[in-house]
Amino acid sequence: MTERPVLMFDSGIGGLTVLREARVLMPDRRFVYVADDAAFPYGAWEEPALRKHVIELFARLLDRFDPLISVIACNTASTLAIDALREAFPGRLFVGTVPAIKPAAERTRSGLVSVLATPGTVKRQYTRDLIRQWASKCHVRLVGSERLAGLAETYLRHGFVDEEAVRAEIMPCFMERDDQRTDIIVLACTHYPFLANRMRKTAPWPVDWLDPAEAIARRALSLLPPTGEPAPSGPDPALFTSGKADHSVRRLMLGFGLQLI
Ligand code: DGL
Repeated sequence: MTERPVLMFDSGIGGLTVLREARVLMPDRRFVYVADDAAFPYGAWEEPALRKHVIELFARLLDRFDPLISVIACNTASTLAIDALREAFPGRLFVGTVPAIKPAAERTRSGLVSVLATPGTVKRQYTRDLIRQWASKCHVRLVGSERLAGLAETYLRHGFVDEEAVRAEIMPCFMERDDQRTDIIVLACTHYPFLANRMRKTAPWPVDWLDPAEAIARRALSLLPPTGEPAPSGPDPALFTSGKADHSVRRLMLGFGLQLI
């Protein structure tokens, strides 16, 4: 690879929701997609161990790919380690993904907002600080899901999902209070937009599902100068840290214009 790439990082396939927006906004850029599938799901890790793991992994990734910028397309990793990454690798550019609590608070009419995320993101002080800072006038319910990221992985790899399981995971997001209902659900895990249609279908009433992918891609774009080069041809590389990506992953990667390395 001659041109320095944009590194797109997640614990699994969730970062593809951000990659697809980034490709639209930056068609002249090269990307490298990294899925830390060996450590999936991040949502279940203890904080100190995950922070250490992400820093150690990035030491190797930055060395190997020398990216122009790294997009941490994962709420669970960002809310825990974005500051630590910036501290550990000064001079490197990072864009993080944090729950879209501020836009949700600005948009809600009922004042009832839910944040759907991994158990890790729900526990983070970072997430609680965002609520205190931006949504103190709203009633925000944090809903940690053990299963949704895994369901999204299965759906993308094998094309099916248990709709009842999706419904059970999203139900706690729906609140009713004083004639008001939840009207916005923040998708605070990059895996979840892949299940948005199933969520809409199984939801008890219509809500806005906030997917921050475009905003993250825009932030990355704002930090990078235009290349002035024509669009690169050929697939971008994708690294799965387990080294054990199967046929379904290979096929999925091809569909996203990625080739496993
Ligand atoms: N895609 C990740 C996120 O945005 C989480 C999935 C996991 O638990 O590893 O939080």
